[in-house]
Amino acid sequence: MKPSTLALALAAAAFTLPAAAQHKPEQVIHYRQSAMTMIGWNFGALGAMVKGKTAWDAKQFAVHADRIASLAPQVLEGFAPGSDKGAKTEAKPGIWTNYDDFKAKDSDLVKQTQALSDVARGGDETAMKAQFKKTGEACKACHDKYKQE
Ligand code: HEC
Repeated sequence: MKPSTLALALAAAAFTLPAAAQHKPEQVIHYRQSAMTMIGWNFGALGAMVKGKTAWDAKQFAVHADRIASLAPQVLEGFAPGSDKGAKTEAKPGIWTNYDDFKAKDSDLVKQTQALSDVARGGDETAMKAQFKKTGEACKACHDKYKQE
């Protein structure tokens, strides 16, 4: 194998390795906290509109909903096995001992946030508010069980 071919093969192999094998636990923890912070930022903007703290703006709602829908499928990588410690974290160790249940809650987040983005495209205020609530329930279901505080 030529050295350049070998390098390519190694790069391809690294690409298929689980996140924890490529990154230190500390980096994985920071990645998930960043994803959550960005989801929270955008979800907060939606909440402000839903509660009437800021003016209702269907177009802005769709912008924030789209961002959340694109972030949600990235969350699971941030909970790669082995990232239970290594930096300050509010993630409970139960995540990795109940990983199937945790993954189910993560899948629900992906599903609800995709539905939020879809419904926002339709522009129906009542439907958008209802799906915002359902999405919030998906956040809560996981935080109640797997996030400290
Ligand atoms: C599948 C589980 C799960 C779901 C669903 C989930 N979260 Fe989280 N979230 C966590 C865990 C666990 C942490 C703690 C992460 C850490 O400290 O390492 C967290 C942390 C956070 C944080 C704090 C980030 C920081 O480090 O400052 C915010 C904000 C947040 N989540 C918002 C949300 C919102 C909004 C939703 C729903 C749209 C959501 N989360 C859905 C598990 C989840």
